[in-house]
Amino acid sequence: MNMTLNHLVDQDKHSTLQTLENATDAQLWDALLEGQAKLLFDSEYSWIANENWWPASKRVLEIGSGNGAFLLTLAGHAPEKSYLGIEKLPKSLEKALESNKRTNVVFREGDAEVFDERLVDSADVVIFRLVLQHLSDPVLALQNAAQYSNDYVLIIDAYDKARRTSHPITAMDEAVDLVEQKQRVQNSTGNRRISLDLLETLQNKTSPLSDLYEVIFTNLDADGNLLKEMTRFEGKRARELFSNHVLLFLTLVNRTYHVPVNLDKAFDELQDYLKDEEAWSSVGMHYLVLRKKYTQVHSKAFR
Ligand SMILES: C[S@@+](CC[C@H](N)C(=O)[O-])C[C@H]1O[C@@H](n2cnc3c(N)ncnc32)[C@H](O)[C@@H]1O
Repeated sequence: MNMTLNHLVDQDKHSTLQTLENATDAQLWDALLEGQAKLLFDSEYSWIANENWWPASKRVLEIGSGNGAFLLTLAGHAPEKSYLGIEKLPKSLEKALESNKRTNVVFREGDAEVFDERLVDSADVVIFRLVLQHLSDPVLALQNAAQYSNDYVLIIDAYDKARRTSHPITAMDEAVDLVEQKQRVQNSTGNRRISLDLLETLQNKTSPLSDLYEVIFTNLDADGNLLKEMTRFEGKRARELFSNHVLLFLTLVNRTYHVPVNLDKAFDELQDYLKDEEAWSSVGMHYLVLRKKYTQVHSKAFR
């Protein structure tokens, strides 16, 4: 099944929609995370590797590491460092453990929102990649992370409005708008603009995190305007990976947030994008790096 889910655009529309319908949530997540790492990793790593904080970050902790797709790829590019991935969902953890052939990478069960004494001072950088948007208390997760990291926190999360492309996929825009409307309702869980909200309160010094962290990098300003393009991709392979990603993403949006999605229309819109050799896209993501404030180093405030 995963082979087919990674190559949806090789099939006709009927078979693609059928494959998506028959896939389990776990299979969809697995294929989405794998494809996403393939699509975005090179752009992300070419930025990370040139950042000042990266060489000093010898111990890397990823919280919400899923099936390990991102962390294992990162470890492959910087094998001199040590890596720990923490994941809440047993099925995803199992998958990460199965895929891990590296001696410098460990995966363990854990919850971002539950303080874990064993993680205190365990890392130089803590990574939250596409995780904070799912939490009911992301501030708590970052308070915990301040006890785990000696120096830095890297947040990579969604900000849909930052997506830019030569070929808008309106089926995708409509779906994320519906999710946003739903998430604006009080007491709904999740926030697909969480890192931008965090940035705004950190810059205004109104965040409960203001005493803990300072912002040292952001590719968006607090209004969501692009300061630095991070992930522009083009070429046949990227077009195929992105199209596959859109179809998996929409299916998961439908199942996770219970909003209607128009896969039929998405498939048709993607055909034009796939065929156009000039086509380009960049994803709607926010890249944010926080540095712990000096006074908070080794603080026991949240233990
Ligand atoms: C979109 S996936 C991202 C996986 C990985 N970071 C990546 O970029 O490939 C989000 C992951 O966060 C996990 N997650 C959600 N809530 C969590 C929590 N409270 N603690 C730890 N992991 C959590 C989910 O189970 C899922 O595997």
